[in-house]
Amino acid sequence: MTGGARPPAPSPASDARRPLVVGNWKMQMPLLRAAATARAIVQALPPLPDREVAVAPPFAALLPVAQALDGSPVLLAAQDLFWEDEGAYTGEISGPMLREAGARYVIVGHSERRRYLGETDRMISLKAQAALRAALRPIVCVGERQDDRVASRHERIVGEMLLRSLEGIPEEATPDLVVGYEPIWAIGTGCAASADDASEMHAALRDRLRSRFGASAARVRILYGGSVSEQNIDDLMSRPDVDGALVGGASLRPQSFARIAAFKPHA
Ligand code: PGA
Repeated sequence: MTGGARPPAPSPASDARRPLVVGNWKMQMPLLRAAATARAIVQALPPLPDREVAVAPPFAALLPVAQALDGSPVLLAAQDLFWEDEGAYTGEISGPMLREAGARYVIVGHSERRRYLGETDRMISLKAQAALRAALRPIVCVGERQDDRVASRHERIVGEMLLRSLEGIPEEATPDLVVGYEPIWAIGTGCAASADDASEMHAALRDRLRSRFGASAARVRILYGGSVSEQNIDDLMSRPDVDGALVGGASLRPQSFARIAAFKPHA
């Protein structure tokens, strides 16, 4: 199983790891509000030609949100997919179906799915491969628990989790691969990792990617997620290995999300 079809040719800027900000709406809003929220985000965003912005609504809202985003620069993402392309898999949704709905990105291995649905690194690696086969860019999520950080084993735990989750991903797929570093203790807690801590971890993850993909590791985007806000985004995005953000709670508020997407790194 390899990369298969690729998403449309990236613009030249993407060679330099074009920043990416993704709103993960989880299961947090009534379906009827999803399209209106998408429209409000499109309206609130200033022109941002140097970066990509995406929102990930729940499956049932993908089509109305795709319509709401039509003609705008905001891309559609999905929150999950199944690792087979079609078949008798009740309740699941495939990569080709997500593409048909207009998705360009798909989150895989979010810690909430690892925790509540029992997703393993092996399942996540199969999902990432399935995404690439369908010309979707996978956002592969990894992150440590609080006790791992307290015991200073977070770099090892997350580094190993990352390599297992990327099993079977070929080096040619690196321009389409996105990693989401999301410390579990920072998700939904209002207590984000400091820019220093995030930066240290992103550099460690880049090293792991280098051990696996060599020089092509420089093409993989690494996003930070966990209580990203209007207050901390500029600091986070000023760090060299932080290539974007995964935004949960704040992405439900169009003005906040627009401000986050319009981050301004310090000079
Ligand atoms: P949060 O969620 O921004 O609400 O912490 C982030 C995520 O789970 O992707």
